[in-house]
Formats: sequence, C-alpha cells, structure tokens
Amino acid sequence: MATAAEVAKLAERPEAQRQTTEFRAARPQIVGPDTPQSPYPILLSGPVQQGFGRGGKELGCPTANLPDDSITPMSSVCEPGVYYGYAQVLPPKDANWDEKHCIVHPMVMSLGWNPFYKNERLTAEIHVMHEFDADFYGYDLKAVVLGYIRPELDYTSREALIEDIETDKRVALNSLARPSYQEYSKAI
Ligand SMILES: Cc1cc2nc3c(=O)[nH]c(=O)nc-3n(C[C@H](O)[C@H](O)[C@H](O)COP(=O)(O)O)c2cc1C
Repeated sequence: MATAAEVAKLAERPEAQRQTTEFRAARPQIVGPDTPQSPYPILLSGPVQQGFGRGGKELGCPTANLPDDSITPMSSVCEPGVYYGYAQVLPPKDANWDEKHCIVHPMVMSLGWNPFYKNERLTAEIHVMHEFDADFYGYDLKAVVLGYIRPELDYTSREALIEDIETDKRVALNSLARPSYQEYSKAI
C-alpha cells in the first residue's frame, strides 16, 4: 500500500472506495494488536491551523488541522486513512485554560484528501474526544498516533459519513482501553 506522501506525488490520486452497507456491517469494534507495533507510536506536533470549518458545523465533529510540515513523520510511513491515538492541547501561558482541557485526551484522526469533500491537498485532521469551551487555533497540539482504523472512503450522503465517524470514535475508545495503549494516556 502506498504511503500518503507517495500518493501525494502521483499525477492523479487513486479513486477512493465508496462506503457500502457491507463494509459497515463488517467493521470490527476493536482494531490493531494488543500492543502498538511499528511504525507506531508516531509523534506529531504543531500549531493548530484553521481548516474549512465543516467538521464542526456540518459533521458535529470539530477537527484540529496540523501544518503540512508537521505531518511528515506520519505521511512518510502511513497510507491515507483513519487512525487513533491520544492528543494534548498546550495553551499559551496567558490563556487561563482550565486544567481539564490541557490533559491528554483520546483522539481520532483523518489523514488524506477527504474524498467526500474532494480536497485538493493532503491534510491531517485530529478530532480530540473532549468538550472544549472554546476554539484553540494557534495553540500547540501534540499527538501520538497508535494505530490504523480504516481507509478513507467516499460517501453518497453526509449522514453516512457522520455515522462512520461515530463508529470510528467507539472503535478508537475500545482499542485504547487495552493496557499497553493506556500507557500513552499519561504523557505525550
Ligand atoms: C475520524 C474521522 C474520519 C473521517 N473519515 C472520512 C472519510 O472516510 N472520508 C472523507 O471524505 N472524510 C473523512 N473525514 C474528514 C471530514 O470530511 C473532515 O473532517 C471534514 O471535511 C471537515 O474538514 P474541515 O474542518 O477542514 O472543513 C473524517 C474525519 C474524521 C475526524
């Protein structure tokens, strides 16, 4: 399978698989081995950038975008797809953020071109599974990627994409509940 960086160099990207009811019915509720295996853990960090803003508004799933140069450690070894791990927002000293927002939280992320929205550029978007009170654009985000969930897919409806993202969150939480993954929740 080609890495995201290799796919980015192709003149034309391969067409994404269309989501089907068979694919959904066959989705496992827990993924990956009991202990993270190479190339995981992959560490990423960078200041949060603004995406198109559709994640929060249209999908009920706000995402933090990482700058292009900070995703190389992942795009050079991973194929496009949906991944799970942990993330932590590091607010600037004067931000006066409650401690509950600054701890390590579980995350799901999408690495790719979002076929449903036909993005032109490769993006790494992280959905931190925590209710934040406010946006955190410009704040530093650290993430540790611990495993792969599924390929990125194309969809005929927004509702189907939303349903799959909800499943991704459950799969991520189930997969992170194993002891050797929990180790990474203490510090990134
Ligand atoms: C866990 C997760 C899985 C996703 N899976 C897909 C996918 O399979 N196909 C797709 O086109 N977009 C997928 N997306 C990306 C959404 O399309 C993306 O977050 C949305 O375009 C919002 O981006 P924006 O905030 O830059 O507008 C996924 C996002 C997340 C967080």
